[in-house]
Amino acid sequence: MAKRITFHDHKPKALSLQEAVIQGFLGKPKSIPPKFFYDERGSALFAAICEQPEYYPPDIEQAMLGRLAEEIAELTGTGRVIFEPGAGSAAKIRLLLDALKPTAYVPMDISCEFLKEAACALVDEFPWLPVHATCVDFTHSLPIPESVPTGPRLAFFPGSSIGNFTPETACQFLAMVHDKIGRDGMLLIGVDTKKDPRILDAAYNDAAGVTAAFNLNLLHRIRNETGIECNPQNFEHRAFYNGDQGRVEMHLVSRCRQTLRLNGYRFEFGEGETVHTENSYKYTPEEFIALTANVGLDLQQFWLCEQDLFALYLFRSR
Ligand code: AVI
Repeated sequence: MAKRITFHDHKPKALSLQEAVIQGFLGKPKSIPPKFFYDERGSALFAAICEQPEYYPPDIEQAMLGRLAEEIAELTGTGRVIFEPGAGSAAKIRLLLDALKPTAYVPMDISCEFLKEAACALVDEFPWLPVHATCVDFTHSLPIPESVPTGPRLAFFPGSSIGNFTPETACQFLAMVHDKIGRDGMLLIGVDTKKDPRILDAAYNDAAGVTAAFNLNLLHRIRNETGIECNPQNFEHRAFYNGDQGRVEMHLVSRCRQTLRLNGYRFEFGEGETVHTENSYKYTPEEFIALTANVGLDLQQFWLCEQDLFALYLFRSR
């Protein structure tokens, strides 16, 4: 069978790491948006995080998807176009393809080379599936390529990536998803739950140090791509659950007083000062359902895994 795969590059050329660094290092507190984690090495490191025993979401979500695939298909029907923002290695969609029998799959990711490799591996495994790999910063737009067939759509957004938005921007993103799935469209989304902070702290501080390497890779990337004078060894990884905000926070902590220079700018760091690199919000089902109340999506069904460690929600657009 001829494999069907197309590539579409919608990544804005002006997606400037340099601008983000200047803006982020001038801010108080200093920060860098988490989307910049995902260069090729960052994407590979994220895939390695998903293999760590402490980082529970992937295993639990995959077990849920495998177990629920037929039940989900009964609710969605077959023959939809599935698009997946932040598809990464496209590991989870594999669990649904036989049951959902989509007419096309549109994986979207900011890391173009990583996306291409993932899409090629997928069509090798599922030669019947038309794949339209789309390189895009999905936090800005969700372009569905023109070559994608018409018909009902399903957005698939697993892995609790919604947690990397603030609640306000999560609503904006879900409203954008709502517009893209259109009439009768559906959304299947995986969302991490609130739980014992010790489980969360361990998940973002794995013993093998992979999450630390992922966080610190941001500095290597910034140094390689912007030429900033910066020694990544002068920073360390910190992650903790902030109960007041209901989120895990990741930071890069300056080990010493230091000055970083870029394009005529001087950025002063005190010892112990941090760059906030990621939030990962956790939601109880009540909180998540309340969050989605005003974005035009009606809850069809939700599933909690044993011990309520992770949740899947299926919505239909109003
Ligand atoms: C991609 N995202 C949902 C992950 C999370 O849990 O927030 C990224 C991550 N950061 C550290 N570990 C995993």
